[in-house]
Amino acid sequence: MKDLEDERLLTSHLLGEDRYGDNSLRPICLSEYIGQEKVKENIAIFVSAALERRESLDHVLLSGPPGLGKTTLAAIIAHEMKTSIKKTSGPAIERPGDLAAILTNLEPGEVLFIDEIHRLNRSVEEIMYPAMEDYVLDIIIGKGPAARTLRIDLEAFTLIGATTRPGLLTSPLRDRFGITCRLDYYTENELASIIARTAKILGINITIAGAEEIARRSRGTPRIANRLLKRVRDYALVKETGIIEEDVAARALKLFEIDTYGLDNVDRMILEAIIVKFNGGPVGLETLAACVSEEPDTLTDVYEPYLLKMGFIHKTPRGRVATEIAYRLMNLNQPRTMEVNTLFKDVSDHS
Ligand code: ADE
Repeated sequence: MKDLEDERLLTSHLLGEDRYGDNSLRPICLSEYIGQEKVKENIAIFVSAALERRESLDHVLLSGPPGLGKTTLAAIIAHEMKTSIKKTSGPAIERPGDLAAILTNLEPGEVLFIDEIHRLNRSVEEIMYPAMEDYVLDIIIGKGPAARTLRIDLEAFTLIGATTRPGLLTSPLRDRFGITCRLDYYTENELASIIARTAKILGINITIAGAEEIARRSRGTPRIANRLLKRVRDYALVKETGIIEEDVAARALKLFEIDTYGLDNVDRMILEAIIVKFNGGPVGLETLAACVSEEPDTLTDVYEPYLLKMGFIHKTPRGRVATEIAYRLMNLNQPRTMEVNTLFKDVSDHS
C-alpha cells in the first residue's frame, strides 16, 4: 500500500525528492511566502510584538491538509524571530525521556517543531504541558510512595505543532497553544505564482498559461504543483521543445492521467467505488479504504479533504456519499431515489 502511495504523482505526502531536493525552493521569509494571506498577516503581528517585547513567540499550532506548507511556515517563523529551529515529529518521540532530552537541549528562544503532533504519545504529552506553560520539566523519580517529582527549569522556547487532524488533539494540549492557524487550499492564481517562482529557481522555461494549466490540476497544494512542474518539465524536454506552454502541460498531464480537476486514478477509484459498489453511499471509511487498497488514515488525511472541498462527496454520520457532481464527473446517472436519499441525509446531518 505504501508503494502504491509512493508511486502516486498527486500524493501530498513528502516523497524522497521533495524531502531532500527542495530546500532551495522553500521560501525563507514571510514576504517570499505566497498565499495564506490571513495567516501571514496574523503571524507578522505576533512576531513583531514578541520581538518588541524581547520575548519568545507564544506556541503555534498549524493545521491543514498535507502539502500546504506547514513545515515551511514553521521555518519562516523561526527565521522571522531571528532564531533557529529543531524539527521532530510526534511518532518519533516515543518516551517521556526522548522529549526531556530534546527540551533540555534547546537554545534560549529556539523553535521546536513537532510534525504530526496529534500522534504524540499520552505519557509524552503530559511532560509537554508544564514545559509549554511554565518552561519546566517535571520528572518523576522512583515508584509508589517513595516517588518524588524533580523540577528542572528550561529555557524559554516556542513549540510549533503541525497537524493534518486538529480534531485528534486532546483539549489540554490544544488549549496550550496561544496561536492557532489553519492553512487552506491555495487558489489557482497563488499556485501559478508558486510554479513560476519554482520554475525561475530551477531554470525551467514555462509560459504563464503553462503555469496556470499545471496550477489548475494541482488540487490546491504547492507540494503537488512543484512535483507536477518537474514531471511536466521532463515531458517537455523529451517529447516537445522543452518549453512548457499550455498545450504541452495539458498533454503531459493527460499522459499522467491527471484530469482537469486535479483528480488522479485513486480519486476516481474512490468515487467509482462509492457510486458503483455502494450505490452512491453511504459507505463507511474502513470499507471504502479496503475497496481502494489504501489506509483509512490516508483516505481521511489526503484524499477526502480535496474531494469534500470540490463537492464530490459528502460526509454523513453513516458514511461517505457521492454527490450529483461526482455522478456527472464519472459520466454516470444518479438514480432518482439517490437524490431523495442525499437530501434526507443532509437534513439529518444538521440535527
Ligand atoms: N513553495 C511551496 N509553498 C510555497 C509558498 N506558499 N510560497 C512560495 N513558495 C512555495
